[in-house]
Formats: sequence, C-alpha cells, structure tokens
Amino acid sequence: MFDFKYFTPTKVVFGKNTEAKVAELIEEFGGTKVLIHYGGGSVVRSGLLKKVTDTLDAAGISYVTLGGAVPNPRLSLVYEGIKLCKKENVDFLLAVGGGSAIDSAKAIGYGVANEGDVWDFYDYKRKPAACLPLGVILTIAATGSEMSDSSVITKEEGLVKRGCNSDYSRAKFAIMNPELTMTLPDYQTACGCTDIMMHTMERYFTNGGNMEITDALAEGLLRTVKKNALILYKDPKNYDARAEVMWAGSLSHNGLTGCGNDGGDWMTHKMEHELGGLYDVAHGAGLAAIWGSWARYVYKNCLHRFKKFALNVMEVENTGTDEEIALRGIEAMEDFYRSIEMPTNLRELGVQPTEDELKDMAHKCAVGVGGAKGSAKVLDEAAMLEIFKASM
Ligand code: NZQ
Ligand code: ZN
Repeated sequence: MFDFKYFTPTKVVFGKNTEAKVAELIEEFGGTKVLIHYGGGSVVRSGLLKKVTDTLDAAGISYVTLGGAVPNPRLSLVYEGIKLCKKENVDFLLAVGGGSAIDSAKAIGYGVANEGDVWDFYDYKRKPAACLPLGVILTIAATGSEMSDSSVITKEEGLVKRGCNSDYSRAKFAIMNPELTMTLPDYQTACGCTDIMMHTMERYFTNGGNMEITDALAEGLLRTVKKNALILYKDPKNYDARAEVMWAGSLSHNGLTGCGNDGGDWMTHKMEHELGGLYDVAHGAGLAAIWGSWARYVYKNCLHRFKKFALNVMEVENTGTDEEIALRGIEAMEDFYRSIEMPTNLRELGVQPTEDELKDMAHKCAVGVGGAKGSAKVLDEAAMLEIFKASM
C-alpha cells in the first residue's frame, strides 16, 4: 500500500428534481454572475435549460449562456467562453450537461482565473494556480468529471486532445438527477457505462500498492455497473439502474477506487485520446475498441490482477492455469461490450486508420505521456503502435 491523498470537496445533491435546488446552491457557494455552459442542444430540447434559467430568474441571480460544447470539446469555444466571462464579470460557472460541457467549463475557469494562454495547462507547460468556482447539473453518467480533477480539451490545430488535472477545478456542487439521463440515446448510455468501468479498471490493473479495501470497492463497482448496463440495455427508463450507474460514475473517477495504489495504468485512456482527437469518436466506444488489444498485450505482466478480475468481476470458471483464467476474463469483458453494442476493435468503431495514421497516433501518444507510461506494463511508442495495430 502506498500513501495517498483523497480529496473530494464536491457537494453531491442526488435524486429526483434536484435541479430545482440550483439557485440556492449557487448562492451557497457565492456565485453572483453565472455563465451557464452547455453542449449541442439536448438540454434545450429536454427543457432543462429553461428550468434552470427560470429558477435563476426567480432567485434574482444574473447569468449569461454559452452552448456548443461538442463531444471532445474544442479549444476555440474555451477561448470564446473566457472572453465572455471577462466581459460580463462572471464569478461562477454552471455546466449543464456531460463531460464535454463540464470539461469545457473547467477550461474556461482556468482561463479566467490565470494569466496567459489556457492551452499551456493542457500542453503541460504550466500548472493552473486557480479556477473559477464551478457547479454541475449532470445529464449523462460517464466521465465522472462532476467529481474529478480532470478536464480534457481538443485543440483544433493538429487535432491534439490533452487533459489537465488540478484540484482547483473540482466542482463545488454536483446535482445528479438520474431521470435527466433517460433522454440519452442508447449508444451514449452504453458509452457512459464503458467509461465508468474503465476509470476503475485503469486503477485496478496495476503492479503497485493494491489494497484489499480498494479492490473490494472497485470490484463491487465494476459488477454493479456491468449488471445495470445490461438492465438499461433492455429497459432504458429503469430509474434504479440509472441511479446505480450515475453514482458509480462519480465514485469511479473521484479517486476512491485508486486509494493506496501507484496511480493506475491509464494507457487505454491515453491511446483513446489520440483516437478521439483524430476521429472524433465517442470516448467510451473508443475505450472499448482498444481495451481488449491492450489487455492481451499486457496481461502476462500483471497476471495476478487479471486473474482476480476474471474471477471476482467477470465471474468466470476457476479452472485451468492462471493465464487461461486471465484470458477468459478478457474474453468475457469483450462479450459484455458486444452485449451492449460497444465495439471491440477499430473496424467496429467505424475508423480505418492508415499505417501512417497509426504511427502518428502512437507517436503523439508517446510524446503526450513523456516517452513511456503504464503500470500493468510500461508501454513505449513501439508497444503503443503494436496495440493500435492489434485493435484494427
Ligand atoms: O451536446 P448535447 O446536445 O448535450 O448532447 C450530448 C452529446 O451528444 C448527449 N447528451 C448528454 N446528455 C444527454 C444527451 N442527450 C440526450 N439526453 C441527455 N440527457 O450525449 C453526447 C455525449 O455527451 P458528452 O458530454 O460528450 O459525453 P461524456 O460525458 O461522455 O463526455 C465525453 C468527454 O469527456 C472526456 C472525454 O474524453 C470526452 O471529451 N473525459 C473527461 C474526463 C474528466 N473530465 O474527468 C475523464 C474521461 O476519461 C474523459 O476523457
Ligand atoms: Zn474516461
């Protein structure tokens, strides 16, 4: 077990109609002029945005709005948001939507609260020293950005997708009403479940510092999301299943399932970010398309964890060698992806990179992680290329 810090300052308000509390929460955290930031329009169509603005109007809280945060949110909109906040003296950000709106809001918050070009924080040139306070109304269970320290932005020039991690960006509050996720397309629900599981799996497949309590939480979370993803596949309006998945999404990426270990592997995420930057694929689907190839490449180097995963999460038969059990677990995970219509390779994801594009992604990924990275197995550029090729 390694020493760890666990910092989760976000006040969670969970349940039906909790979005009605948005004005009192903004007041509680000192907001007087709000930027409401949202995505491509689902919150307009569902009536959620109107409900929020009506609530703020009734409470006498002034606001400006900025929509347009797309999946794999773009830097240009972040710049626009920073300009708008400065012009309007915004002192509080409210993201209404999913990871893309939340991450874009976090980036805007960095840009307003710090001097210089906000991209420097995503290009690892500097670290942010502050962020505007942020509140969230979550509409998709997926990234955990509502409780995470992370924000992922894509720079249009060069199609570079990079993340910035800082506790300054952790949301002051997160409103989570599972009913708000019932308008999601089935594909996005499945992508979300995949991403949620992956945030814990990245922390689980490590070679350092594992704790029994952390493993128990992780395995329980993974089994719960798997079970409820299958329920939602058949019954998307199931409130309890929506609620289980939504809360799992936050717990999976707020640090809880990584306490005591070496920080996690994260290479499936790093490689997916290259796919997302280049092909604009949905994040969860991109993860599913790569994971099996990654797992087969690394499992022998982390055999005890893959065996544990196979038995305790995928609940495969405990017979044969450790390697056979581990491989059965990987296959069972891929079967699960197929059962919720997630891709298990790039072809099924709908992208067909050329050899040069594969090399380019591996190169950009290696540069992004500083040469080589991973805990289940350390991957260099050549290893990343092999995994990309195996996932074709
Ligand atoms: O844009 P709108 O119109 O709102 O539509 C969205 C979008 O098309 C739609 N949607 C969301 N809630 C809905 C809904 N449609 C109907 N009803 C609802 N209730 O779903 C689509 C996906 O939304 P998005 O916000 O992009 O999804 P997600 O939450 O998966 O966020 C993905 C982004 O977050 C990053 C990903 O890389 C990607 O850029 N990540 C952020 C992390 C973090 N900050 O901690 C960690 C993750 O690993 C991830 O990298
Ligand atoms: Zn993710």
